[in-house]
Amino acid sequence: MTVKKILTEPNEILRQISKPVEKVGKEEQKLMDDMLETMYSANGIGLAAVQIGVPKRIIVMDLSKDEKIKEPRYFVNPKIKNKDSLKSTYEEGCLSVPNQFAEIDRPKKCDIEYLDYNGKKKLLKAEGLLATCIQHEMDHLEGILFIDYLSKLKKSMIIKKLSKNKSSRIVV
Ligand code: NI
Repeated sequence: MTVKKILTEPNEILRQISKPVEKVGKEEQKLMDDMLETMYSANGIGLAAVQIGVPKRIIVMDLSKDEKIKEPRYFVNPKIKNKDSLKSTYEEGCLSVPNQFAEIDRPKKCDIEYLDYNGKKKLLKAEGLLATCIQHEMDHLEGILFIDYLSKLKKSMIIKKLSKNKSSRIVV
């Protein structure tokens, strides 16, 4: 497993629409292993492949609270089958939008159809944090970031801040 570099906004790759996976094979499993390792090392709870520069419809997540107990989840080609009209609100952040947080409303419950690590078709009835997290990650597959839900002013302030941090970063 390899820890990859996580792309941060502004970056055109993050705005791409990810492509469906035709078959879950060795290559895709290796990608999922690397994604999980990258996510753990960045202390994230979810990561989409496009965030490490691979625009494929693959997501990894781990919502376990205990650091010692790992509960990795893998979603390939996830599709939302059902959405609740009730909303829930969480303060969201994103590994691709470092150090920025905002309250975002999303459907409280949703059903997700997807392929697992072994390419098996599965259905997940998600609620609460799990539902919010999978919807946040699925947005990445469409090139959408949580800051896109904010007002134009708020969003442009965040992007300005991130761009500034980027340009002052030096690697020697
Ligand atoms: Ni994110």
